[in-house]
Amino acid sequence: APAAVIAIDGPSGSGKGTLCQKLAKQLAWHLLDSGALYRLTGLAAHRRGIALDNELAVAELAANLDVRFVPGEEGQPTRVLLDGDDVSAVLRTEETGSLASQVAVLAEVRAALLGRQRDFAQAPGLVADGRDMGTVVFPNAPLKIFLTASAEARAERRFKQLKDKGESVTLAALLEDIQARDKRDSERELAPLKPADDAIQLDSTALGIDEVFEQVLALAKKRL
Ligand code: C5P
Repeated sequence: APAAVIAIDGPSGSGKGTLCQKLAKQLAWHLLDSGALYRLTGLAAHRRGIALDNELAVAELAANLDVRFVPGEEGQPTRVLLDGDDVSAVLRTEETGSLASQVAVLAEVRAALLGRQRDFAQAPGLVADGRDMGTVVFPNAPLKIFLTASAEARAERRFKQLKDKGESVTLAALLEDIQARDKRDSERELAPLKPADDAIQLDSTALGIDEVFEQVLALAKKRL
C-alpha cells in the first residue's frame, strides 16, 4: 500500500518549512524538502559552469545528483552533502534560492526530479514540503494544505532569520525579492504555485506557526 502523504505547499516564508519539520518530528514520519532538490540542482549547475537555461544539461545533472542527507546528532540540523561537500549553509542563501527558481522552470528538470521525490513516500508516512506537492507530485495525498502569509509578514520573518545569521540585507530589498519570486513561481507555465482543488488553505499571517501546527496536526489525526 502507498504510504500516507501530507502535501504542504505555499510560497517561501509562509512558515511551511518549520511546519513540515514539526509535523514530521511529531508524527515520526519522513520529510521531503523538495525545494532543497531544486536548490541543489541550481547550485550544482552553477558550480560546474553549466548555463541555467541549458535544459538538457541541467536535467542530466538533476537526474544524477550525488547528494546525501546526513541526520544531525543531538538536535543538530541535517547536513547536506553535494559531491561530498557540505553545502548546508550555502543551500539556504538567497542566491541559491534564485538559482533554484531559474532551473525550476525547466520541464526536463522537473521531470528528472519527479521520481526522486516520489521515492520519499515510505511507511509510515511522508510530510512533503514544496510548491506542487498537492498538484503534481502527490495528487492523491489524503491531506493537502496550502499555507500562505502576506508578503510583508514573510519578508519580516526572512529579515529576522538573515539578521540572526549576520547577513546584511534590507527589509525593502527582501520584500521586492519575495514579490518577484512569488510572481515567477505562480505565473510559470509548469507546475505553478497554486492550491490543489482539494487543498485546505491556511494563512499564517495572523495565526502564527504554532497555531497552524496544531490545526494541521488535528486534521492529520482526523483524516489519516
Ligand atoms: O522552498 P524553497 O525556497 O527552498 O524553493 C526554492 C525554489 O525552488 C522555489 O522558489 C521554486 O522556484 C522552486 N521549487 C519548485 N517546486 C518545488 C519546490 C521548490 O519549483 N516543489
